[in-house]
Amino acid sequence: MIMKRLRSRSKLHRRVAGLLALAVALIGAGALYSLVLPAPQTAQANQPDSVAVQQGRQIYNTTCISCHGKNLEGVDGRGPSLVGIGEAAVYFQTETGRMPAVQQGAQMDEKPRVLTPDEIEKLMAFIQSQGGGPTMPEERGEELRGTDPARGGELFRLNCASCHNFTGRGGALSSGKFAPELDGSTEDEIYAAMLSGPESMPRFSERQLTPEEKKDIIAYVKSVTDGNNNPGGNPIGGLGPQSEGLIAFIVGMAALLGITLWIGAKH
Ligand code: HEC
Ligand code: HEC
Repeated sequence: MIMKRLRSRSKLHRRVAGLLALAVALIGAGALYSLVLPAPQTAQANQPDSVAVQQGRQIYNTTCISCHGKNLEGVDGRGPSLVGIGEAAVYFQTETGRMPAVQQGAQMDEKPRVLTPDEIEKLMAFIQSQGGGPTMPEERGEELRGTDPARGGELFRLNCASCHNFTGRGGALSSGKFAPELDGSTEDEIYAAMLSGPESMPRFSERQLTPEEKKDIIAYVKSVTDGNNNPGGNPIGGLGPQSEGLIAFIVGMAALLGITLWIGAKH
């Protein structure tokens, strides 16, 4: 009787100790996982010689150098200096297909995007490494929509409507220039436009419009241009492969823990 109770207690002890060891190992593995994975964006921004920067320089040398110069200093009559222009401007210009430009004119038209997202990332890293400048926010896509579109509407009326019209329909400016419709602009493009101020559009620094104010403006623009035909996104997709990997890891580990407990309970 006593022996039996003792035995079952030591069995329980062993099981608890086993579970504890497993938990410690899991937490350790989790911590290791997050340590080993670098934060790709900050790593790129801080390391002038990272692979992305080198590859970005190569893309620059084949597609941009003729108009913007060997050291981004600009070429007379062809293109302005890009030193200190920042990755946000590069994102805006290449994502909307304005760059690489093909012809000179009063204004670069939006064209279908020529570069791949991967090439754009690398160009952003390279040009950011040449003198810094405004950077894109961490959030992407619908994460850039603020929670207060009404405040966004008020800010839009004060800061944007004079050129873009209150419903984002665009309008003519002097000397053959125009403020385009905002219908087709993605959240990221609107944010990048505000940060970089293309052409005759002013640049809105984070002091003039805080990130929250910019997001509310985006929420407003989207509410008047989207209609209700939002296809609905996958929010996890917006977090990027790294978070997805981490989520998969956690789910997998939780499943493993569950199976272990189940097996343990059966013995
Ligand atoms: C055929 C000439 C030409 C080529 C090629 C070209 N650009 Fe431009 N770029 C221009 C001109 C002209 C402007 C100024 C007009 C404008 O801002 O719309 C400009 C403006 C820009 C700006 C905005 C600068 C600012 O002050 O806001 C960026 C960023 C830019 N280019 C990046 C690039 C990148 C990156 C490439 C290569 C993928 C490229 N350009 C290729 C002619 C060119
Ligand atoms: C002084 C006039 C002016 C003001 C004010 C202005 N913009 Fe613009 N905006 C322009 C012009 C001009 C362009 C086109 C630039 C180009 O083609 O290079 C533009 C382009 C854009 C684009 C890109 C559209 C496209 O077709 O890709 C977005 C998005 C945008 N503006 C948003 C805003 C927002 C949001 C505000 C207010 C915070 C604002 N703008 C304020 C003149 C203005």
